[in-house]
Amino acid sequence: IKKLAVLTSGGDSPGMNAAIRAVVRTCAYHSVECLGVYRGYEGLIDADFKQMDARSVKGIINKGGTILKSARSKSFRTKEGRKKAFENLVAEGVDGLVVIGGDGSFTGALIFNEEFGFPVMGIPGTIDNDIFGTSHTLGFDTALNTVVDAIDKIRDTASSHNRLFFVEVMGRDVGHIALNAGIAGGAEEILIPEEDLGLDRLVDSLNKSRQSGKSSSIVIVAEGDKIGKNIFELKDYVDENMEGYDVRVSVLGHMQRGGAPSCFDRVLASRMGVKAVETILEYKSNYMVGLLNGKMELTPLDKAIKGKTKINLELLRVSDIMST
Ligand code: F6P
Repeated sequence: IKKLAVLTSGGDSPGMNAAIRAVVRTCAYHSVECLGVYRGYEGLIDADFKQMDARSVKGIINKGGTILKSARSKSFRTKEGRKKAFENLVAEGVDGLVVIGGDGSFTGALIFNEEFGFPVMGIPGTIDNDIFGTSHTLGFDTALNTVVDAIDKIRDTASSHNRLFFVEVMGRDVGHIALNAGIAGGAEEILIPEEDLGLDRLVDSLNKSRQSGKSSSIVIVAEGDKIGKNIFELKDYVDENMEGYDVRVSVLGHMQRGGAPSCFDRVLASRMGVKAVETILEYKSNYMVGLLNGKMELTPLDKAIKGKTKINLELLRVSDIMST
């Protein structure tokens, strides 16, 4: 193997730059050329490439976003698009592709491999932590710190005005961000898709918290929660059905995806980049690198895509006890 390519795809996440740096520098360490691909699979189809060496990735370990840019490519979903991508990689003499992204990006990589036999390797980069085969995806830890910082600030104003705040956090179909940040931010209630306890439990919990003497409350709502009302409808529901609450809503949105990666994400990205490149140099393909029990482990890409992450039941219990 003489030349690898690297791209970032799907929603960006803090730590992607640190992972690009690790891939490029591991290539340099092993005297393998490295080609950066701009805009994910779009750039693969448009041959939007940049030759990278160890110095091209200086000063980026601490930067959020991705210097290679990211995209959710529609063209790569077509056979013609993937054929063009393959031809471009062959023309450049690339022997393997490292994809930094989430499950949608890995699905694309797997189809590409099935069609053309092209070696692919995945690095899980998403704030959602929704990928099987790793305890942490790149960016999850940073996003948690960002959300906790926001909750702390909201709590200041919530307690000054004796208000109830519904705070919506990202996470797509899973509640890992909500549960972890909710515990760390001292939320009174956390609504996640994995635990659909319904409106009654929310009302009950708010009543109890008021009876216990709390004058302000924060409820964290995962964007994918299944309570059946969006966050604004939840506010309306409480306004209409519960006495004496002054309710506000805060949707944190894309600020959760930005910012300098945490120490944890920088170290994780560096480890994952090294493992991904060294695995592909061993002529292995179709794996995702992940962190399991403190070690870098490989999970077949199809398992990483199909497997489900589980919510930590102990954390659920801790959150229940803490809202007493
Ligand atoms: O997967 C990361 C994520 O930020 C999710 O948490 C969220 O549902 C989604 O991407 C938002 O996507 P977009 O940036 O396309 O609005």
